[in-house]
Amino acid sequence: GKAASTPAKAYAKVGIEREYSTSTPCFANDKPKHYGKKEGAPCRNVRVPEEYGFKPGMLPGFENVAREHGLKTYKDVYRFSLEHNDLFWESCAKMLNWKEPFHTVQDCDLKKGKVGWFLGGKLNVSENCLDRHVAEDPNKIALLWEKDEPGTVQISYGQLLEWTCKMANTLKQARVQKGDCVCVYLPTSPMAVASMLACARIGAIHTVVFAGFSSESLRDRIQNCKAKVVITANEMIRGGKSIPLKQLVDDAVKDCPTVKTVFVEQRTKKEGRYAKHDVALTDALDAASAECAPEVLDSEDPLFVLYTSGSTGKPKGVLHTQAGYLLYAALTQKVVFNLKPGEVFGCLADIGWITGHSYVVYAPLANGITTVLFESTPNYPSPSRYWSTVERLKINHLYISPTALRSLLRHGKSHVKNHDLSSLRTLGLVGEPVNHEAWEWYYDVIGQRRCPVVDTWWQTETGGISIAPLPGDSADPIYPGMAMRPFFGIEPVVKNSEAFADHGSDQAGVLYVARPWPGMLRGIYGDEERFVETYLSEKPGCYTTGDGCVETADGYFKITGRVDDVINVSGHRLGTAEVENAIDSHGKVAESAVVSFPHLVKGEGLAAFVVLTDDYEADEHLVKDLKGLIKHSIASYAIPEEIVIVPHLPKTRSGKIMRRLLKLIAQNKNEDFGDTSTLQDPDILKPIIDAWSKTT
Ligand code: WTA
Repeated sequence: GKAASTPAKAYAKVGIEREYSTSTPCFANDKPKHYGKKEGAPCRNVRVPEEYGFKPGMLPGFENVAREHGLKTYKDVYRFSLEHNDLFWESCAKMLNWKEPFHTVQDCDLKKGKVGWFLGGKLNVSENCLDRHVAEDPNKIALLWEKDEPGTVQISYGQLLEWTCKMANTLKQARVQKGDCVCVYLPTSPMAVASMLACARIGAIHTVVFAGFSSESLRDRIQNCKAKVVITANEMIRGGKSIPLKQLVDDAVKDCPTVKTVFVEQRTKKEGRYAKHDVALTDALDAASAECAPEVLDSEDPLFVLYTSGSTGKPKGVLHTQAGYLLYAALTQKVVFNLKPGEVFGCLADIGWITGHSYVVYAPLANGITTVLFESTPNYPSPSRYWSTVERLKINHLYISPTALRSLLRHGKSHVKNHDLSSLRTLGLVGEPVNHEAWEWYYDVIGQRRCPVVDTWWQTETGGISIAPLPGDSADPIYPGMAMRPFFGIEPVVKNSEAFADHGSDQAGVLYVARPWPGMLRGIYGDEERFVETYLSEKPGCYTTGDGCVETADGYFKITGRVDDVINVSGHRLGTAEVENAIDSHGKVAESAVVSFPHLVKGEGLAAFVVLTDDYEADEHLVKDLKGLIKHSIASYAIPEEIVIVPHLPKTRSGKIMRRLLKLIAQNKNEDFGDTSTLQDPDILKPIIDAWSKTT
């Protein structure tokens, strides 16, 4: 509950669990392992390349304002964006096509959870992503679908518009109306994009569920958003392995009375069973008209709900709306990546995550460029997959996770060498802190020191990139492993245990954002109170990020990782409470505590400490059963590296589990326990340490 996220606990964690020196922009404990750099070698920084150096003309619609106010540098414009916040966003909003202009730029009161942008304005997101580009050139390539088996399918803007309209009409046929939820459970594919845009076209709300989630996770999400329709495929192939999507949907919708229709795409030849509410998607699309007038929607009509993990057991449905979200996603992509017309954007994330929503689908299409849909994995069929894809698709901007990078650099340069990567201009990173070694490998080996590395910090809740190395002036440096500079209109503040740290004081604390921005979440779907309680109450008027942070004397921000019970496994966000709930549902388990520890590839790994009920002894099946349970109720990536049976958990006198101590045990740092005086009984640590040492 609430106690777990009190600031005091959060700050204690920053100090104790994330030790690093702020005098150097590198992780102090980040010792290069594979890449052959000497331990403790100083970090190199790189300059912002000339062509990326910030010019006000990079902001659409802003040139005149900049001229009038004499704004030239990043710092000028950044300051202006805070001081004249309305004027700034008003001029940037010119990059969207409006059906009706807005009369009010913003109407927000974060203390009350009120967030409203571009009020009175009317538009259609799918029209912004499709029709306006089709009007210019219907043959322009919108999607490059890199399928699991290496090979690419090209889809033009004209074709995508046609599919979107057919899908929109199909949804209407299924009685989906404005404001209804549609669940999309599909691999990263053109049909998934058309489904999302079809919802946007008719004002339905989409909920994309990552197709690696279990049927139970799917069921919970469908139940929470009361979806009327599910769009899925017979199966999905990822990394050469089949995932029986339709079967998982069947299991899920048994308990979802709101679902009236399930559309099934025939992704492979494999036939499946059809139930009464199932409709073959191709038949429905064949019968549908290819024309569908875009619904005229209000700026603040809901666009989508995306479920994400928090500190509590149940994932929450983060709600984003039309205009603010689209503008923020499109603008950040344009500026941070220095986007040019005709470019190919290779964000290789799955569409089931926010990175996929914002930078595979909405931003690239709003900006009218070509976006890559990557259906496979970094290692399939070999660790050169990314690089052969870059070469074949002539990707200009690559946007991947540090985990993928770490898993590839272990295989060495030989997988990179034979590929022509000269199309690359920008190297993006997202999702978790990047270690120094991986950053350097990306810069040296992949970018050949030509391409700036942009380590972008943001969240499902922020809608788009919030802190990133670019924009920056060409005289400014980029430091490895630092998110660096706030995007325009974003006002980050760092708060330590007492108060807000002075800007640039180099103090560790928790990151807040002190004012609203167009891309921020509008709420938690179906739970208004939880919105304020979760995000806006710790420091009223400020948005709580849940991340630790340092602001250096130069005004650069370094993100140090979560300070709450959210963890980042392979760049996937997960709540320890979710995993504990799954483990605790086993009949033999009395209680459990899940903590994370640093993992060379995944960033963070999971360790579960499990206490059995009195009558049971552990047998060889138990750990296997527990793993199965977790896979079944969440997803495979949530399975801990280690599951240890212990006689008890360390608790305070008031009965709280001391996760801090378990975290240290999981890192074999038994000397660092520090003050254990609040422990019920200091001797109880020994059997836990013993049990752990047997596993590693
Ligand atoms: C983490 C992903 C360090 C952070 C877009 C955040 C990062 C969480 C970075 C959100 C980064 C994301 N450096 N940490 N560049 N980017 N994170 O909602 O802990 O899946 O709170 O959104 O990922 O994860 P989410």
